[in-house]
Amino acid sequence: MALLEASNVVAGYGETEVLHGVSIKLNAGQVVTIIGPNGCGKSTLMKAIVGLVRVRSGSVHFRGVDISGHDPEWIVRSGLCYVPQSDNVFPSMTIRENLEMGAFVRRDDYQSRIDEMFELFPDLRRSARRKAGTLSGGQRQMLAIARALMLDPVLLLLDEPSAGLAPALVEGVFNRIKDINSAGVSILLVEQNAKESLRMSDRGYVLSGGVNQLQDTGPALLDNPEVGRVYLGG
Ligand SMILES: Nc1ncnc2c1ncn2[C@@H]1O[C@H](COP(=O)(O)OP(=O)(O)O)[C@@H](O)[C@H]1O
Ligand SMILES: [Mg+2]
Repeated sequence: MALLEASNVVAGYGETEVLHGVSIKLNAGQVVTIIGPNGCGKSTLMKAIVGLVRVRSGSVHFRGVDISGHDPEWIVRSGLCYVPQSDNVFPSMTIRENLEMGAFVRRDDYQSRIDEMFELFPDLRRSARRKAGTLSGGQRQMLAIARALMLDPVLLLLDEPSAGLAPALVEGVFNRIKDINSAGVSILLVEQNAKESLRMSDRGYVLSGGVNQLQDTGPALLDNPEVGRVYLGG
């Protein structure tokens, strides 16, 4: 059984339908990447999966349960955590406070989880008292991911985690994503750095025009000349 299976998802905003029936599947332990042109609905798909945008028809099954129609808080509690593309930290709070906020649905001792996050992201420990608004783009992205991990998710959805980062920092983000996956967290990724992300992905999906275009293993999509020409810059 797939960990996550979205089937024929239709979603949009007001009169506008953005997704016209998109299907993706992710098995437990996998990293799956979604690529596609700007505005094709990648973020909308993630928001539909986590309940921030209504699924108009189709379904989203997580661990065999149809979660479409549930509210985002219920979905987070079920083990699915979403890191949006931007505005993903509280700028006026310190790093530590952001991590404490991340733990708001946890009842157990979250201090030890904060320590685990500082192990994974030593840079954050060094700046724990700094306000998130003063962090560099790379540190802020790490904090957003760490905040989501405070909830101990089964599946982490990351919307363009390397967007806007200097090339030198992109590798660091991908290395942390690999670490998180190695620790047992499944990952659904939307990325502009398609080469980097497909290379480490078990599966990749190409969306365009609100529908599925192509799907294959990450490396096979990387080698696909059509994908190369349109999405990987040659
Ligand atoms: N909150 C919103 N209200 C209305 N239209 C939106 C909203 N968010 C996104 N859109 C539109 O939906 C389409 C898909 O957007 P999005 O899912 O963000 O694409 P992607 O993440 O692939 O770049 C775009 O045309 C965008 O302008
Ligand atoms: Mg987007």
